[in-house]
Amino acid sequence: MNGLPLHHVGIAVRSLGAAAATLTRLTGSQPTPAETVPGQGVRVQFLGPVELLEPLGPDTTVGRFLERRGEGLHHIAYTVVDIRSELVRLAAEGFQLIDTEPRPGAHGHRVAFLHPKDTGGVLIELVED
Ligand code: CO
Repeated sequence: MNGLPLHHVGIAVRSLGAAAATLTRLTGSQPTPAETVPGQGVRVQFLGPVELLEPLGPDTTVGRFLERRGEGLHHIAYTVVDIRSELVRLAAEGFQLIDTEPRPGAHGHRVAFLHPKDTGGVLIELVED
C-alpha cells in the first residue's frame, strides 16, 4: 500500500434529495439510505465514493460552512487501520487535530478530523475501517 487510501469525498449540500438525484444522473450510482450522524450535525448519503452532507440546522459546522462558502467540497477522508495511533503520529508530525479522540461517524465507523489550516485548506477526515 502506498500511503493512506482515499475513503470518500464529502460534499456539503443544502438538500440531500436534489443532490443525490443529480449524482445518480451523473454517475448512475444509487444512494445509500439517509443516515443521521448527530455528533456531526448532519444527515448523510453515500453514492459510491461521494458522501453528501446536509446540515441538521444552521448552527452546525456544515450549516455554517454552507452559509460562508455555499455548496461544494467539504472534506476528504482517508482510511486508517488504527485511528488512535494515526492521531498520535499526525500530532507528532505537527498537524492540528480537531478531534484528539475518535468520534462516531457514518456506518458505525470511528472517525476524527484534522484542521484544514495544515492541509492545503481542505478539512481531512480519518475513517477507521
Ligand atoms: Co466524511
